[in-house]
Order: sequence, then structure tokens, then C-alpha cells
Amino acid sequence: MKILSIESSCDETSVAIVEGRNVLSNIISTQIAEHKIYGGVVPEIASRRHTEAISAVCDEAVKEAGITYGDVDAVAVTFAPGLIGALLVGVNFAKGLALSLGVPLIPVHHLRSHIAANYIAHPDLKPPFLCLLVSGGNTVIAEVTDYTKFKILGSTRDDAAGECFDKTARCMGLEYPGGVTLDKIATKSDFNKYPLPVPRVEGEYDFSFSGLKTAVINTVHNAAQKGNEIDIPVLSATVRERVCDMLIDKTLKAAENLGYKKIAVAGGVSANSELRERLSLECEKRGYSLYYPPLKYCGDNAAMVGAQAIFEFEDGNIADSSLNATATLPIDYR
Ligand code: KG4
Repeated sequence: MKILSIESSCDETSVAIVEGRNVLSNIISTQIAEHKIYGGVVPEIASRRHTEAISAVCDEAVKEAGITYGDVDAVAVTFAPGLIGALLVGVNFAKGLALSLGVPLIPVHHLRSHIAANYIAHPDLKPPFLCLLVSGGNTVIAEVTDYTKFKILGSTRDDAAGECFDKTARCMGLEYPGGVTLDKIATKSDFNKYPLPVPRVEGEYDFSFSGLKTAVINTVHNAAQKGNEIDIPVLSATVRERVCDMLIDKTLKAAENLGYKKIAVAGGVSANSELRERLSLECEKRGYSLYYPPLKYCGDNAAMVGAQAIFEFEDGNIADSSLNATATLPIDYR
């Protein structure tokens, strides 16, 4: 079954052709250069750029896959969660395309797609497994009990891990997307130089990153007021270490308590070098299997939407022309 999948939840317009776990094409048109000027994504600009790009990106995906529109068996689209105006572009385009081709329309939850990025890279990965989902807008530990069945164990009480990286990077003057830049320049040296708090939160598998973010902002502002220079690579490494401590501790605790030996990491922050390195070591010590997507599937892309769509279709999750975009929706909505 050849699925044409569409992703437009934030600042990448992407269309892919996917057959099972096999990616025939995956075209991504990124808007990062434009949002960089503003230090973050401007929703109105994002929607306009998706509208301009989507037809051409779609044609290119079909061409690169070596098929025609007549070969498409279903259209899948990210419908939630994300920037509402951005999502609406993809959803309306998908509705029109499915109707004109006379094929089913499959609605796909964005976080489920991030998990499915692992199915593309790891053909042997099958539920049940434990998943740490870390992106710009979400930080969640969930049990993936089946391809379309999820149980949320914990989530962030305030900021997402990616948001914490992006905002602390921004206040240090680093280029957008901050998490990526911070990870590149972080230099491990003296972790006592900036005594950042170790975030604590009551829920056993919940997270909190806003206290850490505030502490970094205060550190930078205090130094500026006193005319002191901040050692940006060291402060970056300290933030990264604190965020990773919390993500790794809670994930391992959940795996141990619930008896999971298979752990997947998904979402944009799964590209973080320290998270990958440390979690790999810890999993190796415990005899756990760790899965994370290759870097090209960590960020937003349509291939992962197509990889999840087949399971949604098999589960009867098919939409009609009343499908709407939704800005917030938990992963276990259905
Ligand atoms: O999953 P994603 O592409 O978009 C959302 O759905 O949110 O995640 C984007 C987030 C941004 O916050 C970005 O800074 C972060 O992922 N990110 C990273 C790295 N690469 C991307 N954060 C830390 N280290 C990285 N290497």
C-alpha cells in the first residue's frame, strides 16, 4: 500500500511516499532560515510558507518515488498537535487530494509519527516498548503497548525539554534552533562553574524544566549587569547535563519499575548527542535494547507520518472531509 503522507505542524513542509517501513521519497522544505531572524517560529509566516510550498513539495515527492498520483493508495496527514494555522494547510491539502484521487484519508497524531520514525530505521522494532518522547513542545514517557495504543506514564509539568534548550540558548545569544546550536558548542569542563539547580518534581515519571530555564536566564542577566562574561560553551554543557540527567533518570526508573527491556527515544531532542551517548551506555550496562531514529528522521518529516499511517489505517482510523486540525491533543486520544 503506497501512502502519500503530509507534515506541516511547525516549520517544515514535508511530503513522503511510504510503503510499509520502506520510504520511497521524503521531501522536506524547511523554513528555518526565515524564522532564524526572529529567534523562533512565527506562526503566521509558517502558515504562509506552507501554503506556498506544499503543491511543489508534493509533486516532487511523487516524482522522486518514481510513481504517479494514480499509484497512491491513501493520503495521510498530521492533524494534531502543532501550530493550528500550519496544521490547517496540510489538513486541507490532504482532504482535497484524497477526495480527488478517491482514496482514504488517514489522520496521524504528530507524536505517534515521531515514534514511528523508529520503525523506519529499525525493522525489528515492535511494541510493546517504553518510549521517551522529547520534542520542542512535548516531553512524555509513554508505554507503547501496540502500534496505536499508548499509556502516558508521565509528562512535563511546564516547559518541554526542547523548549528549555531553545529558550536558554536564545538568552545566551545562540542561533535558532537553539537546541541544535547549544548541543554543538557545549564543552564539558567545569560543571561547578555555574551551579544550576537540579530540577525536582513530585510525579515519579514527570518532568519540570522551567526552574532550570529561569536559573540560566538569571545567570546570564546577572553576569551582564556586573559586566562579567559568560563562558557560553560551559554554561551550555551544564544545561545539557541537567536536562539529560532528568530525562535519563526518569526513563530508566520507568523501565526498571515496569520491566521494560526495550526503550525507544523519539522527537527532535532525540538528536541530542549527550542524551544518545549516555542513554546508550546505561542501557548497555542493564542489557536493554535502545532505539533512536537516524538524525534525518529526528526532526519533523513526512516519512514518519507515512510509517505510522499504515497502523492507523489497519486500526480503522480513517477520516472524512470533516477532519479538522487540533492544536493540542494527547497521544492516547483514541
Ligand atoms: O520534534 P521536533 O523537530 O519538533 C517538534 O515537534 O517540536 O523538535 C524540535 C526541537 C527543538 O526544540 C530543537 O531545538 C530540538 O528539538 N533539538 C535539539 C537537538 N536537535 C533538535 N535539542 C537538543 N539537542 C539537539 N541536538
